[in-house]
Amino acid sequence: MSLQRLVIQNLRNIARADIAPAAGLNVIFGHNAAGKTSILEAIHILSTSRSFRTLHIDNIISHGADVLTVRGNQLLDSGENNMGVQRSKNATRLRLNGVDIQQTSVIAQKLPVQIINPEAHQLLEQGPKIRRKMLDWGVFHVEQKFADIWRRYNRVLKQRNSALRQGNRKVVHSLSPQLLSLASDIDTRRQMYAERLQQYIKQYCGELIGSIPDIEYVRGWNRDKSLQEVLDNTITIDLERGYTGAGPHRAEIRFKFDHKLAQTVLSRGQQKMLVSSVIMAQVALFHEDTGRRSILLVDDLPAELDNEHRQQLLEMLWRTNAQLFVTVTEPGLVDLSPWESSKVFHVEHGTVHEVV
Ligand SMILES: Nc1ncnc2c1ncn2[C@@H]1O[C@H](COP(=O)(O)OP(=O)(O)OP(=O)(O)O)[C@@H](O)[C@H]1O
Ligand SMILES: [Mg+2]
Repeated sequence: MSLQRLVIQNLRNIARADIAPAAGLNVIFGHNAAGKTSILEAIHILSTSRSFRTLHIDNIISHGADVLTVRGNQLLDSGENNMGVQRSKNATRLRLNGVDIQQTSVIAQKLPVQIINPEAHQLLEQGPKIRRKMLDWGVFHVEQKFADIWRRYNRVLKQRNSALRQGNRKVVHSLSPQLLSLASDIDTRRQMYAERLQQYIKQYCGELIGSIPDIEYVRGWNRDKSLQEVLDNTITIDLERGYTGAGPHRAEIRFKFDHKLAQTVLSRGQQKMLVSSVIMAQVALFHEDTGRRSILLVDDLPAELDNEHRQQLLEMLWRTNAQLFVTVTEPGLVDLSPWESSKVFHVEHGTVHEVV
């Protein structure tokens, strides 16, 4: 399931790189601005077609070039997947085993990627959307059908919102059965996933922070009422504002310590440990459910962590069974000894070399 070859062309300061990562741990080291994060960005783009740093593709394509390309070779239990993403200002082209692919989710499904970086605390600080997406990463990767159900729900939701704006109650009502059935399907799957995820998060937080959070799955409408009841009760407000105020599109997950939201009581380092616990939990659960390994990108490992917590986190990352890519400025910060397979890459002015 791991990436065994990665080829990058025209991505930021990397004109061309061609590396053969280890199935276990890959340490990428180099000075500031050498191109370390750009390698992680390339892997993320290969999986999702998007960067975790920016929505603007022109920022990522190397100055003076028109197209960036990332290709990867994924080793499977039997055979391999050859995947490629090409992005220009106006077009995205995806290939899987020599065939053009229309939907991004096809490659994302095959190559699940997660990231822990210095912006990790945003998972706690931003609005619910980022936590909803986090939850859905897990459901999406474990349940093949989820992406389709979510797309269908959003289509009906859009139709409902448009009917609300037109004041067309008849259409609003006629969409209800479909909306309610899809909403219930999404909620059930998320709830089941959130419950299992909690157990892992609590265990990891206990180890890393020494204290266990309360984790609350919020489904997007009043806990004591059916969505039907809520939508009936709020129809007048929905008609006034022209959108649907309740439903699984408002779901999220909250983390609390002593009844207080995590971001209000945890230090920056502890926030990073909580978010790392959440992401490691997702990766571990993915492995438990599918027997497959995902890719975990850890950008700037030492940021905000003291030596003891860094070593502890590394030991826990090792236990998740993910293929790991870790960037550091000093290679000595990472202990390679527990890893059965590991490689070290040095990046200098956009050039990547394996260190042997
Ligand atoms: N579109 C682009 N074309 C060419 N170079 C770019 C482009 N965008 C960014 N760069 C340059 O790419 C380099 C690599 O940046 P990157 O963020 O990958 O470095 P890094 O090794 O992660 O550094 P740090 O340790 O500071 O995080 C930087 O020097 C940056 O100025
Ligand atoms: Mg960086």
